[in-house]
Amino acid sequence: MKGIILAGGAGTRLHPLTKVTSKQLLPIYNKPMIFYPLQTLIDAGIREILIIIAPDHAGDFLKLLGSGKEFGCKFSYEIQDKPEGLAQAFVIGENFIGDDDVTLILGDNLFDDDFSQAVKEFKTGARVFAKQVKDPERFGVVTFDENHKVISIVEKPKEPKSNYAVTGLYVYDNSVVAKAKSLQPSARGELEITDLNNVYLQEGKLDVAFVNGQWLDTGTFESLFEAAAFARDKILKQ
Ligand code: DAU
Repeated sequence: MKGIILAGGAGTRLHPLTKVTSKQLLPIYNKPMIFYPLQTLIDAGIREILIIIAPDHAGDFLKLLGSGKEFGCKFSYEIQDKPEGLAQAFVIGENFIGDDDVTLILGDNLFDDDFSQAVKEFKTGARVFAKQVKDPERFGVVTFDENHKVISIVEKPKEPKSNYAVTGLYVYDNSVVAKAKSLQPSARGELEITDLNNVYLQEGKLDVAFVNGQWLDTGTFESLFEAAAFARDKILKQ
């Protein structure tokens, strides 16, 4: 299993904080944001990791993370020229993925859980990780049956059919590269991860696991603030 951290995007919602740096390099208490999703992949047993970044602050990521040796990993880097969608990660990452399965984590998502079991058990198809939230309309929303087979997955629905948000962690088999390449850009010009998941769903190969601990998507000032408190609490508990 290989890993990809998607840490591109323009971060315009966090201006002026992100005018001179990348969102994923912003401090969350005592560490840059990207350290948290990186640790989630490492804790899941993944050591070969591709970091996808925007051109603007690429040098800063390299300076911060280096070869990966310091983390017991091997890091590769790719540039995403424009934020053309989360699913583009698998087009950009084609050579890196090779013949392997791959776990994608968003560079602004913070998790408490240990996903090593979910990654180890994964055999084929795709797995998303859901969490109950109060504002599902802000996310991908998933419905599923009693065997955790997915029934529907919809991106930011106006009238959500459940309150289970799809979090920013995804596990895919090797067919993800071909599937991502077959997608058409959405109305907002992006290769949508939800469209990709729908391809797996149509094949009956999409299942859902659950996030039990805390999950934060640090896309807003409020969630950045919460994330700092989350990171501080975690340290104090140790
Ligand atoms: O956080 C989970 C949610 O992430 C899911 O529930 C949604 O289904 C999924 O579409 C995504 O929604 P967001 O609205 O949070 O996506 P956003 O465009 O904010 O991108 C998430 C992160 O990925 C952000 O830190 C920037 C980075 N990104 C985004 C795009 C579109 C890239 O690196 N490249 C891109 O092309």
